Amino acid sequence: MRHLLSARDLSLESAVSLLDTGESMAQVQMRDVKKIPALRGRTVVNLFFEDSTRTRVSFEAAAKRLSADVINFAAKGSSVSKGESLKDTVQTLEAIGADVIVMRHPSSGAAKTLADSGWTQAHVVNAGDGTHEHPTQALLDAFTMRQFKAQRDGVSPLGTDLTGLRVVIVGDVLHSRVVRSNVWLLHTLGAHVTLVAPPTLVPVGVGAWPCEVDYDLDRALAAQPDVVMMLRIQAERMNSAYFPSAGEYSSRWGLDEDRFRRLIVGRGDEVIIMHPGPMNRGLEISALAADSPQSRILNQVANGVSMRMAALYHVATDVTEAPRKELA
Ligand code: NCD
Repeated sequence: MRHLLSARDLSLESAVSLLDTGESMAQVQMRDVKKIPALRGRTVVNLFFEDSTRTRVSFEAAAKRLSADVINFAAKGSSVSKGESLKDTVQTLEAIGADVIVMRHPSSGAAKTLADSGWTQAHVVNAGDGTHEHPTQALLDAFTMRQFKAQRDGVSPLGTDLTGLRVVIVGDVLHSRVVRSNVWLLHTLGAHVTLVAPPTLVPVGVGAWPCEVDYDLDRALAAQPDVVMMLRIQAERMNSAYFPSAGEYSSRWGLDEDRFRRLIVGRGDEVIIMHPGPMNRGLEISALAADSPQSRILNQVANGVSMRMAALYHVATDVTEAPRKELA
């Protein structure tokens, strides 16, 4: 795999192979010395044109645990604020010797533009491009769901997909690159996805996505899904009012205390709660749900490091088959 630009492009075989490598990487993270020499001598540049906490820190930890040299480049405080173009910025990084460029950018399609540009020989990993895709988030989400499913069914996660898993994803679908990547990857892995949102936060063209759409959260939760993923209301991407008030949103589409209690009644071990972060507590999710035993939100963060190690390893060493023995 030369680049990782979108989850939609991943075949079932490469998605399962990435998830399996993620399991090997998770083993590495359980050791006292959480480091392997897989990318020694390679340089990974984190090129972030948008704010980020967990994705940037997660990629940095992942690259360091693979023994790569890491350069963190935030557009704020760089010559980008003096008007330097993406081309000049990337060519500068190329001259410094970047082997992998992990890029987050506000424009949809930016990662593909970079990969196709010829400005750099580096492998490109998309860390979020506008409202388009966020493939490593979808991979870490799928990894988290696969672990839950394997644990529940008492089997090894290795080599398995998500066939039969029922996933409800709720909230600001319109502005979410996380949901776009998730819908395609979960579909490839055999899960059944239902999106729930106010009609104003559902994009035109959703009919072509491989999922169902519902506007009624209580109905979707009454169907007893295995996974409930809440999405952040992305106020910074909203230029008009998409719902009457925060209170109204929370009472109809939030995982508030009552709704959460109803969801887990009688099936506390059979449903998990996820959120990509950062959370708006009290808006899309209550503290009761976020901090509950059903919550996998911090597992998602930990799994993010394993899956980003897997992604960097696959692009930089061109893994196409199952993970190599050196990781075992
Ligand atoms: C997401 C993002 O930036 O797209 N966050 C993340 O990467 N963990 C989701 C969000 O910002 O709501």
